[in-house]
Parts: sequence; C-alpha cells; structure tokens
Amino acid sequence: MKTILVTGGAGYIGSHTVVALQDGGYQVVILDNLCNSKLVVLNSIQKICSKTPVFYQGDIRDRTLLSKIFNNHSISGVIHFAGLKAVGESQSQPLKYYDNNVAGSITLLEEILKAKVDTFVFSSSATVYGEPGASQYQEDMPTAPINVYGRTKLMVEEILGDSAKANPGLKVACLRYFNPVGAHSSGLIGENPVGTPNNLMPYIGQIALGILPRLKVFGSDYPTPDGTGLRDYIHVDDLAIGHVLALDYLERNPGAITVNLGTGKPYSVLEMIATFEKVSGKKIPYDLVERRSGDLAEYYANSGLAKAVLGWQAKHGIERMCEDTWRFYSQLGAQGS
Ligand code: NAD
Ligand code: UD1
Repeated sequence: MKTILVTGGAGYIGSHTVVALQDGGYQVVILDNLCNSKLVVLNSIQKICSKTPVFYQGDIRDRTLLSKIFNNHSISGVIHFAGLKAVGESQSQPLKYYDNNVAGSITLLEEILKAKVDTFVFSSSATVYGEPGASQYQEDMPTAPINVYGRTKLMVEEILGDSAKANPGLKVACLRYFNPVGAHSSGLIGENPVGTPNNLMPYIGQIALGILPRLKVFGSDYPTPDGTGLRDYIHVDDLAIGHVLALDYLERNPGAITVNLGTGKPYSVLEMIATFEKVSGKKIPYDLVERRSGDLAEYYANSGLAKAVLGWQAKHGIERMCEDTWRFYSQLGAQGS
C-alpha cells in the first residue's frame, strides 16, 4: 500500500482529499500546523472512512520534522495543500505569504529531494491567470496574477517546473483550482472559516444559520445575463478525486504538468443564492451593492486537458454543491458551533 504525505491535510480541500485517498487504498500521513484548521477533523475523517490518518502537528518550514517524517514512513508522494490563502491579508502582509507559501514550499521540496521522493502534487489556483483578456482560462494562456497570494502560487509553480527540469526523476502536477465549494456528503467535513467569511458560499451558509444577517452581492452591473459575477464553482469532492487521478498520472508520466480543475460551467451569484434557497428552504436576504475591488465579471475553466490527461471530469452540479454545503452548515448549527 502506498503512503502519501498530505501537507495541510486538516484543512478544507486537504481533508476531503485525505478521504478520497484512503477510499482509494492509500495510507495517509498528514502534516499540518493547524493555523487554519482544527484537530477534530481527524475524528470526522475516522467516522467517514473507518480509518485514521497518521497526524503530525507541525510546520512545512521545519526541516527537522520533515526529515523525521521521511525517515519514519516510506512516503511515495506528496500532495502539498499547506498554505495561506486570504487575498486581502496577502496584500497587507506580503512577507508572511512569501515566507509561508514560497519559502515553505522550497524547504519541503528540498527535503523531498533529499528523501528521494519523486512525486509532488501542488495546490495552485486559477488566480495565477490574472486578467488574460478572455473568460475561459486555458493552461497555456499567459499568467499575470494581480495579488500577492496569486504571485506566491505562480512562483511555486515555476520553482517546481525548474526543479523537475533539473531533476529528471521528479514528477510534478500543479493543479489550478477554480472556486471550490460544497462539503462531503456526510456533512461531517466542510469549509468553516474562522471569523467573517470572504468567500460567497461560507457567507451564505452563515446567513442560513442566522449568524450573519444579509449578503452583499458585489456588483449587479457586470456584462453578464443577470448583472452579477460568474464563477466556475467546483464541488470539493470532485476536486479531491482530481488529486488521486493526478497521482495515477504521475506514476506513468515523468516531468511537470499544469492542469485546470474546474467544471467549465460558470454560475452567477444570484443563481447560487436561488439554488441554495431552493435546496435548504432558507431565505438568503441580500442587497445589490458596489463591485468588490479586484473582482472580474466572469471566468471559468477550459477543462479539456484534465479530461484528456487525467481522465477527470467534474460529476457534481450546482444543486449538489448547495445541498452538501447546507448539510454541513445545518449539522454545525445543530452542534451550536
Ligand atoms: P485551508 O486553510 O482550509 O487549508 C490549508 C491547511 O494548511 C490548513 O489546515 C492550515 O492549518 C495548513 N497550513 C498552512 N500553512 C501551513 C504551514 N506552514 N505548515 C503546515 N500547515 C500549514 O485551505 P484550503 O481551502 O483547503 O486550501 C488548500 C490549498 O489550496 C491552499 O494552498 C490554497 O492556497 C489552495 N487553493 C485553495 C482555494 C480555495 O478556494 N479554497 C482555491 C485555489 C487554491
Ligand atoms: C476568491 C479569490 C481567489 C481564490 C478564490 C477561492 C479574490 C479577489 N479572489 O475568488 O483568489 O482563489 O476566492 O475560492 O478574493 N461575492 C458576493 N458577496 C460576497 C462574497 C462574494 O457577491 O459576500 C461574489 C464575488 O463578487 C464573486 C463571487 O461571489 O462574483 C465569488 O466570490 P468568492 O467566493 O469570494 O470567490 P472569488 O472572488 O471568485
């Protein structure tokens, strides 16, 4: 049985991927410093899979801990989720982001090469494209991220590409996620950010629970059918499967590859609200307000490469994304969290 080190495996996308890996027959070792997650997620993973991953609480910048993990376990590949992801904070505290996301990835990569692990899957983001002048993003389009967070992602992609060229045994997949939403169908794991959410679906979830009063819809004068922004929302379980398929792909293919993970079908803010209201039976009161600075009208994935090389395609649509989000939030509400 192969063992995969999952950095950031206690987080939102990481925890769903740990479930997909364990379901797919992998052993999992998690390294997470819990700066944006809670240990209780391990109990939830155990409930879902009847199997608990090995867990190390610590930082990807801690070389001693990394070398201990590689000595203690026969790791065949690494999926690297650990990172900071708040766009606004990345602008006000750039060094924190360059240190955690870029320096942290370099330390991890150095220890991986020392331990002779040859497979690396990296969490990148559609945000690396910036404003390419077209709404459908394809992997070979120019990249020009417009914020510090996006630049950290692009820098790590480039570092990994250069390292794969210099180390012919190294196999790398950079996965560019679009807008991950939803939760595991059990409702046991999902996205529950600390403080007021920045992103649409956690905000809607907290309104449905009565924690927040009303949604601000940022912009209703975009050149889109209903005037609100269009995004390629992707169910987190589909995203998780994409990582398992990327590991399969790398077993057969050396070198570095960059792949979009999105559905290719964008939805507007008003469509997300209406679908959430329909599946939850909860009213989501909202006001149409000014555009949010830095937002684009519309973008979505060309997901042809993911289908062609990974054999991956998103299965879950907007209703399932909203149903699973609501199940997760309603269970949180029942626990009084
Ligand atoms: P998350 O914050 O829920 O998970 C990240 C995890 O990494 C957390 O558990 C955190 O405690 C841990 N972590 C952070 N820095 C660490 C460090 N230095 N050492 C050890 N652990 C550390 O975020 P997520 O939404 O699950 O995102 C996972 C990855 O995917 C991130 O790299 C993020 O940038 C990327 N990504 C996320 C989205 C999204 O919308 N959620 C979109 C594109 C890319
Ligand atoms: C944001 C990040 C992006 C990151 C992604 C992860 C910015 C500028 N971009 O993308 O880097 O990869 O999250 O999912 O922060 N909206 C509202 N009201 C709200 C919140 C959002 O109307 O309270 C709208 C936004 O204007 C947008 C859509 O909902 O049209 C989605 O927003 P959000 O969930 O924040 O994601 P993005 O901005 O697409």
